[in-house]
Amino acid sequence: MTRLKGKVAIITGSARGIGRTFAEVYIREGASVAIADIDFSRAQQTAEELGEAAFAVQLDVTSQDSIDAAVQETVAQFGQIDILINNAALFTAAPIVEIDRQNYEQVFAVNFTGSLFMLQAVAKHMIERKKGGKIINMASQAGRRGEALVAVYCATKAAIISLTQSAGLDLIKHGINVNAISPGVVDGEHWDGVDAFFAKHENKQPGQKKKEVGEAVPFGRMGRAEDLTGMAVYLASDESDYVVAQTYNVDGGQWMS
Ligand SMILES: NC(=O)c1ccc[n+]([C@@H]2O[C@H](COP(=O)([O-])OP(=O)(O)OC[C@H]3O[C@@H](n4cnc5c(N)ncnc54)[C@H](O)[C@@H]3O)[C@@H](O)[C@H]2O)c1
Repeated sequence: MTRLKGKVAIITGSARGIGRTFAEVYIREGASVAIADIDFSRAQQTAEELGEAAFAVQLDVTSQDSIDAAVQETVAQFGQIDILINNAALFTAAPIVEIDRQNYEQVFAVNFTGSLFMLQAVAKHMIERKKGGKIINMASQAGRRGEALVAVYCATKAAIISLTQSAGLDLIKHGINVNAISPGVVDGEHWDGVDAFFAKHENKQPGQKKKEVGEAVPFGRMGRAEDLTGMAVYLASDESDYVVAQTYNVDGGQWMS
């Protein structure tokens, strides 16, 4: 499979989880991938496991210096960037009256501000290079509607959908496609934390929330990172050149739009 042959991708938050699976599949499709994560030792371990087409990069998306350095390092290593996936994010949940300002600021700094300025830094490189590119933002069904207990995370993902529209419209004149993937509930380490939160706040047994959300998905189970890779490859490939500013639900039928 070579749908991304010769392409270079930088995937934020790809030391683990969905981002790691995207990196694996992109490499299988012929791309080279910068595994850019705040957890550098895990990024190094992941890069080692994925082989020589993977390269670990230290990145904290809340720092402009770190963003600029990660973009420079990736270009120095692979010569160019054709694809960005804005995947790094933090989850948070709390009843409205318990939302903590510092936590709110941190989650917005990673999920939204970090994505905006990563997108900007990579777009500048792509514009200068004059070869276009593909930018994929990770939205969520949480960005499609509010959820009791999840106000801040939902708001960051609604903002991502809006950014995808504005950036998509502004950058297409440079041949840069900006689109987003909106997953539903995807099992993995991230959801282990979510499950633990609901066990505490809704008096559930460990594992119970996962079971309930999986049963509520029209498809009949929680998603897996592998369920998202078809869309991630499509949006990074030439096949999606005419797709602009869209957010695609890949969620087993959870949300229709
Ligand atoms: N898992 C789900 O159910 C689900 C559902 C909808 C959307 N999503 C979205 O998909 C994406 C990936 O989710 P996941 O489940 O793989 O998450 P995850 O928590 O497993 O992975 C997130 C990664 O981001 C990294 N990270 C955190 N802060 C960072 C920072 N400041 N700079 C750089 N990297 C940082 C972490 O170290 C981690 O490797 C996220 O955007 C998430 O919001 C996930």
